Amino acid sequence: MRNNGRQADSLTVAVLGTGPMAGIHLAAWAELRDRGLQVDGRRVSIEPAVYGRDTEKVRAIAAQHRVARTSTRLEELIDASDVDVVDNCLVNSEHFGPLMRAIDSGKHVFTEKPLTIDLGEAERLLAAARKAGVQHGVIQNMRFNPGPRKAGQLIEEGFVGRVFSADVLFGYMVPQTVVNRPTWFYKKEEAGGGIIEDMMAHFFDLLRYLVGPIDAVYAATGIAWDTRREPDGTPFTVEVEDLASVSIRFGNGVIGNCFASWVRRKHEEVPEFQIDGEDGSLLFSFNSLRTQKQAETPLFRFDARQVQAESLADWHTVDLELRDPFGLQLEQFLGGIVRGRPTTPDWEDAVINQRLIKAAYLSATERREVRLEEIGSAVRTAA
Ligand SMILES: NC(=O)c1ccc[n+]([C@@H]2O[C@H](COP(=O)([O-])OP(=O)(O)OC[C@H]3O[C@@H](n4cnc5c(N)ncnc54)[C@H](O)[C@@H]3O)[C@@H](O)[C@H]2O)c1
Repeated sequence: MRNNGRQADSLTVAVLGTGPMAGIHLAAWAELRDRGLQVDGRRVSIEPAVYGRDTEKVRAIAAQHRVARTSTRLEELIDASDVDVVDNCLVNSEHFGPLMRAIDSGKHVFTEKPLTIDLGEAERLLAAARKAGVQHGVIQNMRFNPGPRKAGQLIEEGFVGRVFSADVLFGYMVPQTVVNRPTWFYKKEEAGGGIIEDMMAHFFDLLRYLVGPIDAVYAATGIAWDTRREPDGTPFTVEVEDLASVSIRFGNGVIGNCFASWVRRKHEEVPEFQIDGEDGSLLFSFNSLRTQKQAETPLFRFDARQVQAESLADWHTVDLELRDPFGLQLEQFLGGIVRGRPTTPDWEDAVINQRLIKAAYLSATERREVRLEEIGSAVRTAA
């Protein structure tokens, strides 16, 4: 039922795409359909629909999640008068056009990150969504993953006190023959960039959310292999960076550091985060969180000859509520539509993240620190 939200007792959500991320979104929508969305004591029924180019893939993903409404024509689903929300899970280069069309046809809009690969297009989408009065959201599952979510609560409650630093370590091995993820991530036209575009869309957002607004970045990037291969062995030229080290200067004086790599042999749950502050520290990943208070921090004297005793045993493990982060965020977004109250993260966040990504690329090219204000005016001054 199309009514732009407020009085809705049913909402139809059209998911664009049939890849792994569309599958994750559809699983969450299907779970909400089966359970029913409860908003302020009212039950709102959810009906997912799916678009894909490939009939067989559409049939398979629809069967997996028991989705009745399908289409292989993008415009048909976006323009349909009984679709309320468009949820874009296509490749990065196919975010702008379908989202703009959805706004033009009055739909609430949600998208996988990054909002677009071009900052100007991201700003145009934000302006169009505001003008049309539709609600806009972007997946930032890291804010909703159990570990970071709990970290946010603890920071809010003052566990860390004044923050000194925030570190992110992320990486795993993508072999030269790319068999463990889509190869478009290594092609500039479809991806927009490499690991900065892909992963800093998450890390800039999460760090802004946990620590505060970012003033400046310094990035160094590298390409591990000039040529990679499709799963069938066909070689292609790598156009984007495989690894990046990004230093971050926050407005509140905190220093951040993020190392991200697709050519790293991992040994921990990735990404791994550490936030150190005056009163305590947090060490967390998506599904684990450990804490250490200043008062119980073992005293350590550095002696390069000694075997060091400090270990994870000195940290407290915190129990976490394990919930699907995508489901949590998507449920929150729909709740906002039903109530007529926007939720975050929204496209203002996405535009700020995109500006930071642009700053990081400029930094890598010019080999210098780049202040966010060099990349055009802020959409809003707060984090
Ligand atoms: N939140 C996360 O943790 C996370 C993880 C991976 C990917 N992503 C994002 O999710 C999105 C999808 O990623 P994925 O891994 O599912 O990719 P994928 O390649 O598996 O799926 C992309 C979909 O886009 C479709 N597509 C490609 N070009 C098209 C075109 N010209 N017209 C119509 N359809 C087209 C493909 O057919 C496929 O259905 C991307 O924006 C990516 O950045 C997010």
